[in-house]
Amino acid sequence: MKQIIIIGAGTMGNGIAHSFALHNFQVSLVDTNPDSLNNALQTIDQNLSRKVKKELIQPLQKVQALSNIKLSSSLKESLKEADLVIEAITENLEAKRSLFREIDQFCPSHTILASNTSSISITTLASVTKRPKQVIGMHFMNPVPVMKLVEVIRGYETSDATVSQIMSIARKLDKTPVEVNDFPGFIANRILMPMINEAIYAFYEGVAGKEEIDEVMKLGMAHPMGPLQLADFIGLDVCLAILRVLYDGFGNPKYAPCPLLTKMVTAGKLGRKTNEGFYVYDKA
Ligand code: NAI
Repeated sequence: MKQIIIIGAGTMGNGIAHSFALHNFQVSLVDTNPDSLNNALQTIDQNLSRKVKKELIQPLQKVQALSNIKLSSSLKESLKEADLVIEAITENLEAKRSLFREIDQFCPSHTILASNTSSISITTLASVTKRPKQVIGMHFMNPVPVMKLVEVIRGYETSDATVSQIMSIARKLDKTPVEVNDFPGFIANRILMPMINEAIYAFYEGVAGKEEIDEVMKLGMAHPMGPLQLADFIGLDVCLAILRVLYDGFGNPKYAPCPLLTKMVTAGKLGRKTNEGFYVYDKA
């Protein structure tokens, strides 16, 4: 596997591109928004520089990694040579389904189609393609260049060959893949999001202030970040979308998103990416 196409150059797409390029894969990073593409390249450059500074990589590796990345706004053109496509667009079922339909049409028959979705059913995405055996979840964690885990999600029809190729490519990126089955939220978000939602409820009900809630979880549970900080880091829109998938998928009221989360997303307070969520951030 050589040619990797990453669709969506936001928070996750740029990190995924960084990791593949650093391990000498040829990467095309595709986005419909030219600003996202330019920001992604800048972020990758900065993150690679940080690794050079920490002496985790050589300066030449940074140059090589950057030269392995091609930016593109033309999806059709990029797909012709694809061995693996990783979709990392906005967490929206209809947008992802329509993209998978398109990708399936323009990719060679051997191409594996992976989604970095946090919670959307891999089986549903596979069902709009003619290659459900070659559709899989490849759920990287944020920030991708740092986090070791890749949750590998097996859809209803995903073949053993596809799972084994994806496990092997994740190891080549120096990540640790963990295989799970396709149920709402998989493992990571099925457990993480109810905790974040409960922290938001505790804040909303005035049980404690945001700093206090985060402090309890950091000091008491040895979490590196408090749940409200983490929600800002992930993106409140992403958290809300995942909770809705859990709520709809299980039909259980315990997953109902806290009204405060819904209100903040409606107001455009999405966390770090908009410089304000539960906390206020300096403009990058
Ligand atoms: P983001 O909002 O930062 O980036 C999404 C990008 O996709 C934007 O640049 C947008 O212009 C682009 N886009 C939207 N529709 C497109 C299309 N049809 N074709 C090409 N580009 C398109 O989102 P983020 O946070 O990077 O999330 C991406 C995916 O990764 C989502 O499925 C999310 O659930 C998942 N994810 C997010 C994590 C996080 O911590 N933010 C962690 C793990 C997974």
